[in-house]
Amino acid sequence: MIKLTIHEGEKKGTISPEIYGHFSEHLGRCIYEGLYVGEDSSIPNKNGMRTDVVEALKDMKLPVLRWPGGCFADEYHWKDGIGPKKDRKRMVNTNWGGVVEDNSFGTHEYFELCDQLGCKTYINGNVGSGTVQEMSEWIEYMTFEGESPLANERRKNGRDKAWKVDYFGVGNENWGCGGNMHPEYYADVYRRYQSYVKIYDKEKPIQRIACGPTDFDYDWTDKLLNRLFTRCFDHLHGNVEGISLHYYTLPHDWDHKGDATKFTDEEWYITLSKTLKMDEIITKHSNIMDKYDPKKILSLVVDEWGCWYDVEEGTNPGFLYQQNTVRDALVAGINLNIFNKHCDRVRMANIAQTVNVLQSVILTEGPKMVLTPTYHVFRMFKYHQGSKLLNSFLTGVEETGIGEAKVTEVTESVSEGEDGIVNITLNNLSLTEEKEVEIGFDKLSPEVVEASVVTGQMNDHNTFENSEVVVTKKLDNIETTSNGLKVVLPARSVVLVRVR
Ligand code: AHR
Repeated sequence: MIKLTIHEGEKKGTISPEIYGHFSEHLGRCIYEGLYVGEDSSIPNKNGMRTDVVEALKDMKLPVLRWPGGCFADEYHWKDGIGPKKDRKRMVNTNWGGVVEDNSFGTHEYFELCDQLGCKTYINGNVGSGTVQEMSEWIEYMTFEGESPLANERRKNGRDKAWKVDYFGVGNENWGCGGNMHPEYYADVYRRYQSYVKIYDKEKPIQRIACGPTDFDYDWTDKLLNRLFTRCFDHLHGNVEGISLHYYTLPHDWDHKGDATKFTDEEWYITLSKTLKMDEIITKHSNIMDKYDPKKILSLVVDEWGCWYDVEEGTNPGFLYQQNTVRDALVAGINLNIFNKHCDRVRMANIAQTVNVLQSVILTEGPKMVLTPTYHVFRMFKYHQGSKLLNSFLTGVEETGIGEAKVTEVTESVSEGEDGIVNITLNNLSLTEEKEVEIGFDKLSPEVVEASVVTGQMNDHNTFENSEVVVTKKLDNIETTSNGLKVVLPARSVVLVRVR
């Protein structure tokens, strides 16, 4: 018998809403077509932003949006994307398909989108091919309220008030597409660039994010932090608020990643076992961070995560368009539970990417829109945003899997919202077996407020012809017991139970 013990009196920290963040790059059909169609489009829009997509994202409570990349960020020159659209420079998107980027979505459009979404802003600056001056002027353009050449240019382009930049990334993947740097070299570059990311308004601080490691590259984290915090340690604790971490789930390898919808039982378990690695990766990077920053001032920002498969047949290989199945729902549920559990260090995470790219929550085709299984999981988990993580743990859980691909059967996380409602999210990773879980509390005699589930056959997915194959449904198999709850998790499921 699996048992979930919840010590509802033991709060372990706040789950930052930004853990449920998103990433949208100038890549394939994410920005153009997916989020932005332009004011003249026949697709319903407000100031160029697709109304259907914006409404769906608001319903899911998207808290923060990272932009403009990714690898694109280190080739992006922000001045190309301001002023009259007809005069904007057309450039080649060298990273993603070699297509023409007409810069019709730029700084003003990004803030308009975030304004419509009601979300925080996370802008990634160009270190790889941009200058310190360019970065410093972008910050001035966006955030300086007074009279200055750049603030005046912003006004000339139609925006009087300064915007709020909540997070600013100083480069992206600078160990790779962002300049192929060594950690010590990047650390020095970071120190220089961040000096000019000025905070003009103390009431509107910008959190600066340095480029952290990928996957298991613990050496990068150690060398980066060592170099950042050598000399003027105290001083730098006011100049870097976080480091990034990227970890993608690939069923196989970069040459042959695996198909998004056609996969075997074994590939199901391989994918989930690789996803579970996120816990180990965060733990080990956090341990290194503890060495330099024992008070946990720095955040670990997992600003790229999700499944990365081979592209859908017949689509541009540079556009990274892939379908999304029940397997992706599990990948989302597993990762989000892991992030919740690490909320003392992980204060933001951004799934890659919002629409039409990699593990998207939304797919579009012309005027049509489909919500993916991943979308349903994000919407179910939204109650964790800003809630207090509760001390909870499972006992009686076994391993399941095929061959070497072994996974734990069930994962969980539990939080309590300001309204006093306890949110329990569970994943059943088993392909074949439902799992009964007994849930016990210290004192609470729970009354169920909501119980819902996302489940289906392993490769079920939503299409433009049939968009309701995988949706959120009511979970019926739940009952209250003398000291808690008994819930049956269907095989291949993500479950939310809310009690008071
Ligand atoms: O999300 C796609 C790409 O993956 C990003 O541009 C890059 O940062 C990462 O390698």
